[in-house]
Amino acid sequence: MKPSLLGREVLPLLLLFVGMVAATSLLDAALHQLNLRWVGRYLGIPGVMLIAVSMIYSLRKHKWISWGQPARLLKLHKLLAWLGSVLVLVHAGIHFNSVLPWLAIAAMLTNVVSGLTGSFLIGRARSFVESRRTSLATEGLSATDIESRLFWDATMLDLLKGWRVVHLPIALAFVVLALAHILSIFIFWGWR
Ligand code: HEM
Ligand code: HEM
Repeated sequence: MKPSLLGREVLPLLLLFVGMVAATSLLDAALHQLNLRWVGRYLGIPGVMLIAVSMIYSLRKHKWISWGQPARLLKLHKLLAWLGSVLVLVHAGIHFNSVLPWLAIAAMLTNVVSGLTGSFLIGRARSFVESRRTSLATEGLSATDIESRLFWDATMLDLLKGWRVVHLPIALAFVVLALAHILSIFIFWGWR
């Protein structure tokens, strides 16, 4: 069977996302096992701090700060945003009382998925499609045949490229929703 973009590249990416869900479940189970369930609630704070520190990359990219190597800061962004998201997920638990923080979770997860897509997939996917194109050309296929053979792979690549359009605006939505949730928690505590 011919290798496809879905099998070779998209499925491993899905596994990285599943890894996040698994890390969240393991940490949550460990806290339950150790009778430290209450700690989970507090994990929102270090989670937010890790995500906030990870945003230094964006400050550097838009030249709001001039220190730090962009490549290193991007690596740090990916690592800290991933870890921070796991902590925030454990923090959220499976309670459902209010909509706002769950919207913040939805924005956060959309960004994790788009971030993973962008960093792990696009480069490899592009070279995959190019190498298929070259090998079909050496087999002697005409340009039209090559395009029709590559139709689904090329469509998948176009879809994946959309990640950049999503990542920054959704990050802004995440910040607004998360701030609204955190502020409402503190105002509520203040009124008690
Ligand atoms: C400084 C950071 C944070 C603090 C102090 C904080 C605090 C809290 C507290 C006290 C609760 C319990 C509220 C209740 O039981 O009624 C809660 C619930 C929750 N938080 Fe946070 N939080 C923080 C960050 C976040 C972030 C960044 C997100 C999402 C991306 C988030 C999502 C949630 C969710 C989904 C719940 C469960 C809501 C529900 O019961 O329906 N939190 N948070
Ligand atoms: C809490 C979740 C996340 C948030 C809120 C977030 C937010 C951001 C922000 C604000 C930027 C800068 C965009 C700009 O200034 O133009 C960015 C860039 C980026 N993020 Fe994330 N991110 C998250 C998770 C991730 C994850 C998990 C990954 C991958 C493992 C990732 C990969 C990237 C990449 C590759 C860029 C560079 C984009 C570019 O410079 O063109 N992000 N992210």
